[in-house]
Amino acid sequence: MKGAMLVGGFGTRLRPLTLTTPKPMLPLVNTPFLEIELLHLRQYGVDEVVLSTGYLPAVFDQYFGDGSRLGMKLIHVTEDEPLGTCGAIKNVAEHLGTDPVIVCNGDILTDLDIGALVSYHREKGAAVTITLTPVEDPTAYGLVPLDEDGRIKEFLEKPSWDQVVTDLINAGTYVLDPRVLEQVPPGENYSFERQLFPDLLEQGEPLYGFPSDSYWLDLGTPEKYLSAHHDILDGEIDVPIRGNDRGDRVFIGEGVEVDETAHVYGPVLIGDGVRIGPGARVGGQTCLGAGVVIGAESHVDGSVILDEAEIGEACSIEHSIIGKGTVLGRGVRVAERSVLGDNIRAGGENEFCKGIRIWPSAVIEEETIRF
Ligand code: GDD
Ligand code: MG
Repeated sequence: MKGAMLVGGFGTRLRPLTLTTPKPMLPLVNTPFLEIELLHLRQYGVDEVVLSTGYLPAVFDQYFGDGSRLGMKLIHVTEDEPLGTCGAIKNVAEHLGTDPVIVCNGDILTDLDIGALVSYHREKGAAVTITLTPVEDPTAYGLVPLDEDGRIKEFLEKPSWDQVVTDLINAGTYVLDPRVLEQVPPGENYSFERQLFPDLLEQGEPLYGFPSDSYWLDLGTPEKYLSAHHDILDGEIDVPIRGNDRGDRVFIGEGVEVDETAHVYGPVLIGDGVRIGPGARVGGQTCLGAGVVIGAESHVDGSVILDEAEIGEACSIEHSIIGKGTVLGRGVRVAERSVLGDNIRAGGENEFCKGIRIWPSAVIEEETIRF
């Protein structure tokens, strides 16, 4: 089966991480998120996928190439201007053929049963089937009320609270009959959510919702990015973790050096070549990327530290994200969902709290920031 993946967005809400890496290429438990998504598709026989790129397209091409390493065929199509969710798929329609295809938002972590979704689509004779998931606050998503037969009555993108009549929202995985793309104007910015879906409903086309209680997370914000790590490390969703499980969900990569006086507690993933110094404590749903260094007496809890970052001595990193290659001096504190971009140099005794975000390559003298 063929598929198309929307990966052209700017990932604005995940800045500064997405200033240097497109959102779908950010690592999740040390594997680019998109690789996890593609392998999930392949598991259900979706082995030919078009990547609709726009922002930083070379990053996708360099990592995946033609997809043969994953045992898939990948076609990269880059837009000159953002074409919107539907315009982007119209733009790759020539690669999709005439049979139903899977279309995915590129920022969804899920273990959805795609086989069951496709069977449902065929049973119903649908033009489009939209996977739905329940959420507490539907106003940040596309709201999709159904009739008793599962047919979609309305499509309300980013509704106001007075429009909220159900908790079921568009989960961002569709089965689509490519025929519905014929009416979409080529080369124009066009939205599934605000244009094509409402238009198709008006035309009386059979659009069905497929409510699912599978694991589901939209990886759009730093908070969600941390939650995704926590859930994988806790085993709430089954994603392959690159490391040997030493028991208690302590996953350790190759060539790791942990000082005998350091304490590593699960769930935790320690990437390849990591070094952890004397008296350091690392764990509590933490993920360390390849080559990360944790200085003596430092404490890392509930955090994600990307490849090659170096944390000085006596630092404290809690529920925060540290970008690739960033180097922190002695006694730095990072807490409360703060995000430090890639390749930052921060001297000792700085304090980054309350969700502060520091842009990549910043150079910060010691004792400069208390936030
Ligand atoms: N190629 C391309 N071109 N991709 C795009 C474009 C574009 O112009 N705009 C967005 N995308 C990609 C993004 O990279 C992302 O993977 C996906 O399309 C969805 O865009 P988001 O910006 O993340 O949308 P959202 O999260 O606000 O809302 C969408 O997803 C929700 C579920 O997470 C909508 O589909 C909602 O209806 C839905 O509930
Ligand atoms: Mg999104």
